[in-house]
Amino acid sequence: MEKDIESILITEEDLKAKVREIGAQISADYKGKTPIFVGVLKGCFVFMSDLVRSVSINCSMDFMAVSSYSGTKTTGAVKINKDLSEDICGRDVIIVEDILDSGVTLNYLKNYLMVRKPASIKIVTLMDKPSRRKADVYADYSCFEVPDAFVVGYGLDYNEKYRNLPYVGILKPEVYM
Ligand code: IMP
Ligand code: MG
Repeated sequence: MEKDIESILITEEDLKAKVREIGAQISADYKGKTPIFVGVLKGCFVFMSDLVRSVSINCSMDFMAVSSYSGTKTTGAVKINKDLSEDICGRDVIIVEDILDSGVTLNYLKNYLMVRKPASIKIVTLMDKPSRRKADVYADYSCFEVPDAFVVGYGLDYNEKYRNLPYVGILKPEVYM
């Protein structure tokens, strides 16, 4: 285990099994449709690559980059750093997030995309920290509910580090204090 990790919260095996299950569920729910997965960079990239490979229906993909965080504290403000390159008017959009924390980012993003008149918008998140919610937003698909701890790995970072860890781990508090 990486020295800055206090404990492993979600193992590689658990990630694999759960992501597969959610992928199958999405495939069933969107049967006959061609949804567009909209990944929220950078945190989504590992989860999304595993998720779309367990989806068996036709789909397309696009990415957005937003920033709302610096270190472990939210700044409350959301900035669009990269917008979509596809037109989502009339499309079934599935936003792919790494973690739903305060919900400020996703709430902003959902309203921002709604203006473009998609047929539907749903949210799939790898992790949900419901105890931290400030905005009125929920995940339609959530793989894991997690406690209020700062987690890294499987795409999630602390100051751009640890995204490459194959598991989700709790960061040692001394690393960010
Ligand atoms: P929200 O706007 O507070 O919901 O923040 C969501 C974003 O904050 C996520 O997409 C992550 O990039 C980041 N974030 C929130 N909690 C954590 C965490 O425990 N570890 C790493 N990033 C986090
Ligand atoms: Mg982040």
